[in-house]
Amino acid sequence: MKALVTGASGGIGLEFARLLAADRCDLVLVARSADRLDAAARDLRERHGVQVETIAMDLGRLDAAAELFARVPDCDVLINNAGFASNGRFDELPQERTREELLLDVVTLTELTRSYLPAMRARASGRILNVASTAAFLPGPFMAVYYASKAYVLSFSLALSEELRGSGVSVTCLCPGATATGFVDRAKMHDTLLNRLPLADAAGVARAGYRGMLRGKDLVVPGFSNKFVAFSPKITPRRVLLWSSRKAVEQR
Ligand SMILES: NC(=O)c1ccc[n+]([C@@H]2O[C@H](COP(=O)([O-])OP(=O)(O)OC[C@H]3O[C@@H](n4cnc5c(N)ncnc54)[C@H](OP(=O)(O)O)[C@@H]3O)[C@@H](O)[C@H]2O)c1
Repeated sequence: MKALVTGASGGIGLEFARLLAADRCDLVLVARSADRLDAAARDLRERHGVQVETIAMDLGRLDAAAELFARVPDCDVLINNAGFASNGRFDELPQERTREELLLDVVTLTELTRSYLPAMRARASGRILNVASTAAFLPGPFMAVYYASKAYVLSFSLALSEELRGSGVSVTCLCPGATATGFVDRAKMHDTLLNRLPLADAAGVARAGYRGMLRGKDLVVPGFSNKFVAFSPKITPRRVLLWSSRKAVEQR
């Protein structure tokens, strides 16, 4: 059994790697930071005796998925976890960063899924877990591209999971809320209301997603408050929804 985990050098991705290794699954860990990947790999090999390959690679590039697939032509479990956000006015954020965000959060995730799925279908077994966010359920002023990209991940994952019903291959979409990882630093979200709320623990979030994936669930929203965030857009007037969403992530 072999699992490929993107964004496995820290945060939620590293917790997925730990869960998989504890279940004796061999791993391919991908992210840009070679040193952090290698440290994680050494630790997982020592603790669990599994094989761990590391690939230091920038996945926020066109053709990144094709390059990764060429190096790792098959896996039983695909965890599309790598992602980042940018906080700020859309017209002021650097275009290059927005492109990288879309390439990583949307394009590479889609293309990796497309690459590994045919073999999974052919052997009627495989698990795909795509990490979206509670941001998938509503528009996010001042994080417009990130929220829209996670809405894409949610819609794409649910549609695929239905296409694959009865095939032996499952697609699970994990939608965490604010979680204690390097994410807030990278997104420069320190001075936002969202950052003042209690943060979930990355290990617990990964565990919820992992269990959901093993059960073949199509959607996992861990925690009561996140379930509320996921449900509330259905009953909240649009103006109120946009205002409250803006207040959560606009810099103070
Ligand atoms: N933390 C939250 O509050 C939260 C909430 C909802 C959803 N999420 C989602 O959860 C997922 C994991 O995020 P996290 O919270 O664990 O954040 P994190 O601690 O910042 O981890 C992100 C991971 O993605 C990797 N990564 C970033 N850019 C990359 C690139 N261009 N190419 C390859 N790898 C890249 C990072 O490694 P390198 O820097 O070494 O490349 C790291 O391993 C993301 O999809 C995020 O959108 C997070």
